[in-house]
Amino acid sequence: MTTPLLSVNQLSKTFQRRGQSVAAVDRVSFTLNAGETWALVGESGSGKSTTGRLVLGLTPASGGDIQFEGRSLADLNSSGWKRVRRDMQMIFQDPLSSLDPKRTVGYSLEEPLIIHGIGKRKTQVAGMLEQVGLRPQDAARYPHEFSGGQRQRIGIARALILKPKLIICDEPVSALDVSIQSQILNLLMGLQREYGLAYLFISHDLNVVRHIADRVGVMHRGRIVEQGETQRIFTHPQQEYTRYLLNAILPAHPVAAGAGQVVVNG
Ligand SMILES: Nc1ncnc2c1ncn2[C@@H]1O[C@H](COP(=O)(O)OP(=O)(O)O)[C@@H](O)[C@H]1O
Ligand SMILES: [Mg+2]
Repeated sequence: MTTPLLSVNQLSKTFQRRGQSVAAVDRVSFTLNAGETWALVGESGSGKSTTGRLVLGLTPASGGDIQFEGRSLADLNSSGWKRVRRDMQMIFQDPLSSLDPKRTVGYSLEEPLIIHGIGKRKTQVAGMLEQVGLRPQDAARYPHEFSGGQRQRIGIARALILKPKLIICDEPVSALDVSIQSQILNLLMGLQREYGLAYLFISHDLNVVRHIADRVGVMHRGRIVEQGETQRIFTHPQQEYTRYLLNAILPAHPVAAGAGQVVVNG
């Protein structure tokens, strides 16, 4: 067996709220291999975003262990974290949250390269903009000048510019119109093929997950109640809760119907 890219073991996070403990993430375990898409699905409040933030070290865990390429993240010092952060990036539902409104798009893309001391920055920024279906001259514009779909392309470019191995995508298409959703999903899948990227893909939308994931974990009240190959989860769900989620979706969904082609405009 090759070492998984990411291995999450018995990960837990408890928040204190109004004097009560809330187990947002409760002994979650899964592995993610290089180049694959592992989706975390579940209703709002089930603990998906917290899991993503724990993996990235944005919030400290209450228990459990996370290994990246076989090394525990708990043992990392700050220079170790800096190296891991280069390999692990994040895309959010609202790309504006990771883009500074007062900075040009070009600067927002250049910033990770500056932090990591990487050269040929203007060339890389121009190339990355084209990779996500924008134009090199868009580097001079500001985030508010772009549509929601274009802003998500910028968020993807910023996540991709350090050539990471893993991108944690937290509801990356949930704020977009369905037609734009399929364009962004096709872009993500094309980039995955080109760069061998792995995605931890967080979504409440099973139609989106069916379209993009190799494997799925179903999260409910902080726990993964079922996980497996996407096809198996959708055709032979083992758990009552998974069946409940599947019953709630419509069979003919435009995102699922638009599978297979890479669209880079819009
Ligand atoms: N910073 C926080 N402080 C207190 N409770 C939190 C915090 N972040 C998340 N929670 C709680 O943890 C649970 C899981 O939240 P979250 O991970 O955001 O779920 P999801 O992304 O699946 O909607 C919710 O009950 C939420 O209210
Ligand atoms: Mg969330």
